[in-house]
Amino acid sequence: MKIRCFAKINLTLDVFSKRADGYHSLATVMQSIALHDLLALSPSEVPGIHFMCEAPDQIDVPADSSNLVVRAAHLLWERAAQKEYPLPSGLSLHLQKRVPSQAGLGGGSSDAAATLWAMQHFFRLSLSPQELLECAQALGSDVPFFLLGGTVVARGRGEQLTPLPDIPPFWLVIVKPDIGISTRWAYEALDARPDRRSHRATKRMEEAILHGDFERVMAFQCNDFEQVVFEAYPQLAWLADEIRMAGALQTHLCGSGSALYGVFSDQRAALHGAELLGKRYSHVYVTHTLTRERFQQLRLAEEE
Ligand code: C5P
Repeated sequence: MKIRCFAKINLTLDVFSKRADGYHSLATVMQSIALHDLLALSPSEVPGIHFMCEAPDQIDVPADSSNLVVRAAHLLWERAAQKEYPLPSGLSLHLQKRVPSQAGLGGGSSDAAATLWAMQHFFRLSLSPQELLECAQALGSDVPFFLLGGTVVARGRGEQLTPLPDIPPFWLVIVKPDIGISTRWAYEALDARPDRRSHRATKRMEEAILHGDFERVMAFQCNDFEQVVFEAYPQLAWLADEIRMAGALQTHLCGSGSALYGVFSDQRAALHGAELLGKRYSHVYVTHTLTRERFQQLRLAEEE
């Protein structure tokens, strides 16, 4: 069984106050995109969970048991064992990374959610959607979104999800510069700014999507992390200008960075923009948004 683990962008990302548990309250509209990792699952006669990770040079991911894929597999395995579901003695997981890490594209979280989903289907476990969701929440704030896909508004620490209707797919160019940003650092940098403000754009974006007002969906895109990330890394503010000059209608930070996305009018404009940006940056991806239906249809990959 081979699964596509699709990445995401955030169409809005409002960060509010820090909670007693150390996490921040937030509101965000998350959007699946076609860029993905590939995860292959197969039973193994050797007992235990066996993990292999193939990543291009620039993608720095743990290939050991600290990888979220391995943690997800152990978690689901334990749940299934408690319920006395029949399991094989061993499981092999082979991950091919394509989504850059420390980019804000949710690659690791998507891999973890795909592991939960794939094990549930591969072993015909009958964990309830609520049980899968609890496992996803335990693995990370973004992980529950990747069980659902499409366009979703997330609140709480990111785990309270409300699916939204699909928006017409649009083309994107994503540029990952050679710096990586840790999510924890980005939240701390926001906390260190007493004058920080939130765009509070999620509610307006949600309404625009519910009314099918695509013009406003374009206009309302924003990300609270930009105020600290562009200040700490001026080269990213510069990159945003370059993406605009390559023809983007909109450009924003992906999650807490360091990748930026540009929205393009069509595939041709995106390919042209990517060609221009490719002269200065080595990690440039042309992709597009995915509806929930496409996310679910394409999740199970043919051999690639
Ligand atoms: O949940 P996850 O492990 O992905 O979060 C990584 C880090 O990002 C957390 O340790 C925390 O510092 C920060 N975070 C936060 N508030 C959130 C989500 C993440 O402060 N809602």
